[in-house]
Amino acid sequence: MRAWTVLGIETSCDETAAAVVRGAPPGPGEILSDIIFSQLEEHRPYGGVVPEIAARAHVEMLDGIVERALKEAGCALSQVDAVAATAGPGLIGGVMVGLVTAKALALAAAKPLIAVNHLEAHAFSARLSEGVTFPFLLLLVSGGHCQLLGVEGVGRFKLYGTTIDDAAGEAFDKTAKLLGLAYPGGPRIEELAKTGNARRYDLPRPMRGRQGADFSFSGLKTAVRQLTLEEEVNAADLAASFQLAVVESLIDRARAGMAMFRRDFPREASPAFVMAGGVASNGAIRTALAALAAEEGFTLKVPPIRLCTDNAAMVAWVGIERAGLGLFDPLDAPARARWPLT
Ligand code: KG4
Ligand code: ZN
Repeated sequence: MRAWTVLGIETSCDETAAAVVRGAPPGPGEILSDIIFSQLEEHRPYGGVVPEIAARAHVEMLDGIVERALKEAGCALSQVDAVAATAGPGLIGGVMVGLVTAKALALAAAKPLIAVNHLEAHAFSARLSEGVTFPFLLLLVSGGHCQLLGVEGVGRFKLYGTTIDDAAGEAFDKTAKLLGLAYPGGPRIEELAKTGNARRYDLPRPMRGRQGADFSFSGLKTAVRQLTLEEEVNAADLAASFQLAVVESLIDRARAGMAMFRRDFPREASPAFVMAGGVASNGAIRTALAALAAEEGFTLKVPPIRLCTDNAAMVAWVGIERAGLGLFDPLDAPARARWPLT
């Protein structure tokens, strides 16, 4: 397949990002530039992402960030082959800012537009980083999503499991808040857990042993809240106990997902098990899932941390994958708050 150079734009949550990537499927691709402006400081006082603040910050930042991405790539807009932007799912105000900007750039420079599903972008990040081939099993664990998917190709997914309540990252963030830690809680819990005793508090392992591969984390969060109300907790021990509960429930669900993947793709000798999304940057989770993958005959692939959390390089990469198949979008492609992969 021919190589494409694509400008990608990401604005679906609290990162304003633009990147230029060059390559051809199955990857890896060459990241020519990768600019990310994190709005963390804007949202920190509120303990979470405020949609209106996010949309406004995207408006203020995006033009300059696109300009920087092109400049660092050493590439004029006229030299890219296509413009790709996240068109959902996500906070609709932000998605609209990114998509409208991409449409304007595509129109002005007479380039094709690619409206990217943010989840497909996370899903394919391991193709961008290491050229993982289809089909593979994906565990997508972020602040907004927690899913196990069989990935067969562009636009072709099998949903094995999803969360019936909170996403894994959300559980980390809410637990952190209960412990008085700043947003986003994931990295802080991981840090604190290093010095804690994970066997100190007996927390539930939601969904363990349950039919299917669905997740649930709200019971775990409730158990943490109950503990903090009942006693003076040791924060490090609670962080460690909580993280272990998440690890064990992810292992159980991933094992179930692996069995489902084996049924669908019995001929794959040593398929890739890809972890993506912000929570995939957690070291304890990585280590545990690497061991599980080895046990079950899968090869764990985790993109570098910078590609695990929200970024525009993965959006540009989906642009490359779709462009290779001639899958372009009209200039009236809609922004979508909800857009499931299956
Ligand atoms: O993928 P992401 O950047 O944004 C979306 O949600 O799309 O993921 C952010 C989530 C947050 O909930 C954050 O707390 C969590 O990923 N996270 C972590 C870690 N780093 C980020 N959770 C656990 N351990 C970490 N080291
Ligand atoms: Zn994301």
